[in-house]
Amino acid sequence: MSRGLFITLEGVDGAGKSTHIDWMAERFRARGRVVRCTREPGGTPLGERLRALLLNEAMHPDTEALLMFAARREHLVRVIEPALAAGEVVISDRFTDASFAYQCGGRGLPEARLEVLESWVQGALQPDLTLLFDVDHEIAQARRDAVRDPDRFEREDPQFHARVRAAYLRRAERFPERIRRVDANQPVEAVRRQIETLIAPWL
Ligand code: TYD
Repeated sequence: MSRGLFITLEGVDGAGKSTHIDWMAERFRARGRVVRCTREPGGTPLGERLRALLLNEAMHPDTEALLMFAARREHLVRVIEPALAAGEVVISDRFTDASFAYQCGGRGLPEARLEVLESWVQGALQPDLTLLFDVDHEIAQARRDAVRDPDRFEREDPQFHARVRAAYLRRAERFPERIRRVDANQPVEAVRRQIETLIAPWL
């Protein structure tokens, strides 16, 4: 089966990952690849409606996790899997690592519960490469404070974001082949050089 390339970007709110997506896409397009940039929660019309609920409505942590994975199922079936089958490069701004970081690390849900959803929703499919944008607490907090209309996650207290970051770093230790840490404390050009090195084997 011809399979494309699946790359995901992760990090706490304020890590700056979104700044680099278009640039990464151009690196692959310059090599003649078809690139599809997408995001979670979202990526489909229904997923974007679920995103609006997830980012704005108060809800139980279980409900939050279930809606994240419901949006993800739709995203996989309608966008990610067809694109990969067609040999495209899919770059997603967040994916399942975010659920483990935010819903388990941040909200405290047991990982075993999410693992059930993960295998239901995506079977054995995992990203080929995950870039974890890691940034010091103070920098991320300052960026979150500068957001004009913060969403439900951006409004969480610093302890929540510290737990999210710790959970991301634990996942990076557990899956060192797939999840590569990017030091996002540095200026944009220096961050790009790190990304360039990490994606080079896939270009
Ligand atoms: P984010 O990706 O930061 O978008 P923006 O840059 O537009 O603010 O927002 C998505 C939020 O959703 C983010 O705070 C993390 C949260 N989230 C989860 O809690 N679990 C998940 O599984 C995903 C995909 C996102």
